[in-house]
Amino acid sequence: RPRLLSGMQPSADSLHLGNYVGALLSWKALQETHDAFFFLADLHAITVPQDPAVLRENTRRTTAQYIAAGIDPSRSTLFVQSQVPAHAELAWVLNTITGMGEASRMTQFKDKAAKQGQDAASVGLFTYPILQAGDILLYQANQVPVGEDQRQHIELTRDLANRFNSRFGQTFTVPEPYIVKDTAKIYDLQNPESKMSKSASSAAGVIWLLDDPAVTAKKIMRAVTDNDGEVRYDPAAKPGLSNLITIFAVLTGRTVDSVVDEFAGGGYGTLKKALAEAVVAELGPIRQRALELLDDPAELDRLLGINADRANEVASATVATVYDRVGFLPRA
Ligand code: TYM
Repeated sequence: RPRLLSGMQPSADSLHLGNYVGALLSWKALQETHDAFFFLADLHAITVPQDPAVLRENTRRTTAQYIAAGIDPSRSTLFVQSQVPAHAELAWVLNTITGMGEASRMTQFKDKAAKQGQDAASVGLFTYPILQAGDILLYQANQVPVGEDQRQHIELTRDLANRFNSRFGQTFTVPEPYIVKDTAKIYDLQNPESKMSKSASSAAGVIWLLDDPAVTAKKIMRAVTDNDGEVRYDPAAKPGLSNLITIFAVLTGRTVDSVVDEFAGGGYGTLKKALAEAVVAELGPIRQRALELLDDPAELDRLLGINADRANEVASATVATVYDRVGFLPRA
C-alpha cells in the first residue's frame, strides 16, 4: 500500500472547519487505501511561544479530535512528533543542505514573522519548513494530504529529497502533495478574503470543531456575504457566499452546481439555515465523541505510546541510513 503522511500543529484547544474540510476529511478517506501516518506536530507548535501545560493539553485535545473525526489508531499510525526522536535528528541533517535564500522564500515564515516582528521571530520558525520536510521524508511518504497553504513546503520537501538523493545516493521517496482543489482553502466567515485560521482576529469568523452547536449555528447565520442577494458561485465577486456554498457542497457530498440550483431562487438566509444544520449534523457527533475521549486522558496517552513505537521503527531506520550516507561513524 502507498505511504501517506500528514500532521497538524496542536496549537489551539480546537481544530477548525478549515482543518477538517481541508485535511481531516481526506485523511479519513485515504487511510482506507494507504499505509497512513498522522501526527501531532508539537515540535512545530513551539516555533511560536506556547504555555507548557496548555501545549500538553492541546496535544491530547487534537488527538481526540483526530480520532473522533474518524482516524482509526489501530489502522493508521497516530503519534506525537516529539515522541519520535528521528524527526529532530533528520531536521538537523536537512538544515545543512538547505540554502539560506531558499528558506527565506517560504511565504508562511514571512507571514508569521511579520506578525511577530522580524526580530522577535525564532530561528525555529525560520527552519520550520525543513523540520516538516524531515517529517515527510522519514516515512518515505508517497503522498501528503494538506491544504493549499502547505503546497510550498511540499515543494521544498521534494527539492531537498532530490538534492540529498543526488548528493548521497537514492535514499528518499520524493513525495507528491495531495491537495483537493475544492476544499484546499476554506475562508474566514467574517473576513472571507483570508483563510480560516487558528490565529484569526475575530472568533466569529472561525468554526471550531469543539464549539457548542448553538454557537456554530449563530456564526454561520452571521457570516459576511454581500448585498446583491443572488445565490451564485463566484469566489472573486462573492467570496463570502461562495465559501458557504463550498462548505455546504463538501459536507453534503454534493456538487457546487446542485447546491446553487437548489437555493438559487431563495435568499441567503435559507442557504445559511440549511448550512448551519448540515455543519451541526456533521460536527455535533465529532464534538461529542472528542469530549468523551478526553474523559480518559490516560487511555489517549497509552494509544499514542503504542503508535509512537510503530512510528519509531520506520523513522529510526531512515535516520540510520541517512547517518551512514552522510558519513557519520557508526557506534561500535
Ligand atoms: P496546520 O496545523 O496549520 O494545519 C493543519 C492542516 O489544515 C490545513 N488547513 C486548511 N485547509 C483548508 N482551509 C483552511 N482555511 C485551512 N487551514 C489549515 C492545512 O493545510 C494543513 O493541512 N505545517 C503543517 C503541519 C505539518 C505537516 C507536516 C503537514 C508539520 N509537518 C508534514 C504535513 C506533513 C501545518 O502548519 O498545519
